[in-house]
Amino acid sequence: MKIGLFYGSTTCYTEMAAEKIQTQLNTLFDAPIVEMFNLKDVPVENMMDFDWLILGISTWDFGELQEDWEGHWDDVEKLDLSNKTVSIFGLGDQVGYAEWFQDAVGMLHDVVVACGANPIGYWPNSEEYDFIASKALTEDKTHFVGLALDDEGQYELSEQRIASWCEQLLSEVS
Ligand SMILES: Cc1cc2nc3c(=O)[nH]c(=O)nc-3n(C[C@H](O)[C@H](O)[C@H](O)COP(=O)(O)O)c2cc1C
Repeated sequence: MKIGLFYGSTTCYTEMAAEKIQTQLNTLFDAPIVEMFNLKDVPVENMMDFDWLILGISTWDFGELQEDWEGHWDDVEKLDLSNKTVSIFGLGDQVGYAEWFQDAVGMLHDVVVACGANPIGYWPNSEEYDFIASKALTEDKTHFVGLALDDEGQYELSEQRIASWCEQLLSEVS
């Protein structure tokens, strides 16, 4: 099995998280299972080569998509993701942008589900988080629809969140 990790990152935070997720999953699987792609360099059609996708996205400009994802958005909407498992992680800032925290994760989740994907890796909206609103929450607001990282305000929590999420993914697929 191979995992395709595709990410868009404007100031490298999502990229750094992607690298940590790659390292973590390669260690857990004891094999170089994760192939990583920066969306600024590759077409989204490359996602077709994988049965399991991990997608990384940051939120910008008051609830907007990261620019590389935005540039590919029309192509993402056309993908046939049926029979594919998709896990999403996002970078955001819950203090500076409390009304739009992780919105892009919610938008990406909705589009990949509409394309037929099976989403895994929902993440508890625990008391560690403090924000006003997010499009990335499940209807009952108990979970984010992917891993929510905040390297602006909670950098010290990211490493452990990534480690726990990767273990959660492993248990969800096995
Ligand atoms: C101008 C600007 C707008 C932002 N807007 C949002 C936002 O609406 N929601 C959010 O959760 N984070 C927002 N952020 C925080 C970024 O998502 C955060 O800095 C993230 O780590 C950037 O990741 P990247 O470097 O991988 O693109 C914004 C940051 C900046 C500088």
